[in-house]
Amino acid sequence: MPNSYEMKLVLWAFWLYLCTGTSNTLYTIPLKIFVGKFNSSVNVDWSHLNRTEKSDNGLSLASDPAGLVNFLDMVNNLKGDAGRGYYLEMLLGTPGQKVNILVDTGSSNFAVAAAPHPYITHYFNRALSSSYSSSGRTVAVRYTQGNWAGELGQDVLSIPQGPSGSVAVNVAAILSSDGFFLPGVNWQGILGLAYSTLARPDSSVEPFFASVVRQTGLPDVFSLQMCGAGPRPGRRRGRPRWRQSDPGWHRADSVPGSMWYTPIKEEWYYQVEILKLEVGNQNLNLDCKEYNSDKAIVDSGTTLLRLPENVFSAVVEAIAQTSLIQDFSEGFWMGTKLACWLKGETPWRLFPNLSIYLRATNASQSFRLTILPQLYIQPIADMEDGLDCYRFGVSSSTNGLVIGATVMEGFYVVFDRASRRVGFAVSTCAESGGAPVSEISGPSGDGRGVGTARADSRCGSPGCGRRPTP
Ligand SMILES: *[C@@H]1O[C@H](CO)[C@@H](O)[C@H](O)[C@H]1NC(C)=O
Ligand SMILES: *[C@@H]1O[C@H](CO)[C@@H](O)[C@H](O)[C@H]1NC(C)=O
Ligand SMILES: *[C@@H]1O[C@H](CO)[C@@H](O)[C@H](O)[C@H]1NC(C)=O
Ligand SMILES: *[C@@H]1O[C@H](CO)[C@@H](O)[C@H](O)[C@H]1NC(C)=O
Repeated sequence: MPNSYEMKLVLWAFWLYLCTGTSNTLYTIPLKIFVGKFNSSVNVDWSHLNRTEKSDNGLSLASDPAGLVNFLDMVNNLKGDAGRGYYLEMLLGTPGQKVNILVDTGSSNFAVAAAPHPYITHYFNRALSSSYSSSGRTVAVRYTQGNWAGELGQDVLSIPQGPSGSVAVNVAAILSSDGFFLPGVNWQGILGLAYSTLARPDSSVEPFFASVVRQTGLPDVFSLQMCGAGPRPGRRRGRPRWRQSDPGWHRADSVPGSMWYTPIKEEWYYQVEILKLEVGNQNLNLDCKEYNSDKAIVDSGTTLLRLPENVFSAVVEAIAQTSLIQDFSEGFWMGTKLACWLKGETPWRLFPNLSIYLRATNASQSFRLTILPQLYIQPIADMEDGLDCYRFGVSSSTNGLVIGATVMEGFYVVFDRASRRVGFAVSTCAESGGAPVSEISGPSGDGRGVGTARADSRCGSPGCGRRPTP
């Protein structure tokens, strides 16, 4: 069935690490991955997908005469990310109602469905929770995709496998939404882990993690390890590798390989500073302000690596040039087409590595995150007629650079709020066939060695102080 396209729901290991500073207690909370559409207006009738054989020019790749690539239209999906998200299980209210909550470091409200919606299986019933209290205020949040509105309240929350006991948190009870819940989602809410500046209706609404730290005494640090990357997610054997705890992990110096930190430039999103981008070891040579225009953030709630338009064009051009795929369908880069190869022909060797240089905590140094094509040329479906299809895990953005899941899946990422820095180490689960698909190295030269970024210069743009909606 060439036109069938199975939307997969795959469970993967993913952890949210919370640790205590005094003892070696580490809460390793399993999270699961949702793979599917993040845009509700995307038609889930996959029969609309048309397979386009490029029979006119065949596009036989020079390096691989047998490697005919086919492009599959993603009709009705011009903008929608075929996305994936990571969620965790929480118990909200008294008695606890089980809800699955998406983990999002790009927003700051904890919000959960509190009314029926056609795309979700259940919702948080405020009337059944004796501990729920309404603040009487309304709240609304608009995301890059989708929005919701509801009532601001408070209730108690506990996380199985998390710190024992429960925490009183602000919760937004979602009563109406548009484009937020999508067909087939198996989460019912979102956990915004960024700073109170982004909280709605205003920054007086204490975000979840601040409440946790204040009430439990846990240090103000959490880490994420997203393990959805790698070849053929749908085919990987075995169950998610949940870990109950792993006391060594919270100490940066015990993370396998080196841990590099970049300062949080401003505490609203996790805003960082990018100094340079390389495609296949070639410096893009753009003014580093372009990379941070109007901001660069680390956001687990964004599926792709999103690049400002100019940077995106330069990256696509560089990938096309350094690889053997100049004739590649425009639609592939724009995210409207999948590229499909015969099963078993992994296309990754055709694509270059991508490197992102971040400013190190020693401001005259930088370090480099490298993602291999395995992370950004993403298998998204098994075609039943013998094709494997991939989408481009990078997209263009009009509101800044976003280090989303495409990159984060290569790393163990520490949100060290206490020291105002974000740390990266190579993730133990970022490997494909035993070989790593990400790399970290540093320091990369002194300031002068870092592209156009001088030790004393700053790549942030003046727009950093703005406060758009999250
Ligand atoms: C799919 O292809 C057929 C035949 O080429 C064409 O008639 C049809 O309009 C296409 N459908 C879409 C949704 O593009
Ligand atoms: C979803 O995608 C469609 C098609 O690209 C677009 O028109 C619509 O605005 C998107 N919806 C949201 C909520 O982003
Ligand atoms: C990409 O990076 C990996 C890991 O460092 C390296 O082995 C490989 O040769 C690089 N690929 C290219 C095309 O440079
Ligand atoms: C910061 O880096 C520079 C250049 O590598 C080095 O000379 C300097 O000693 C470093 N400063 C600290 C405090 O480590």
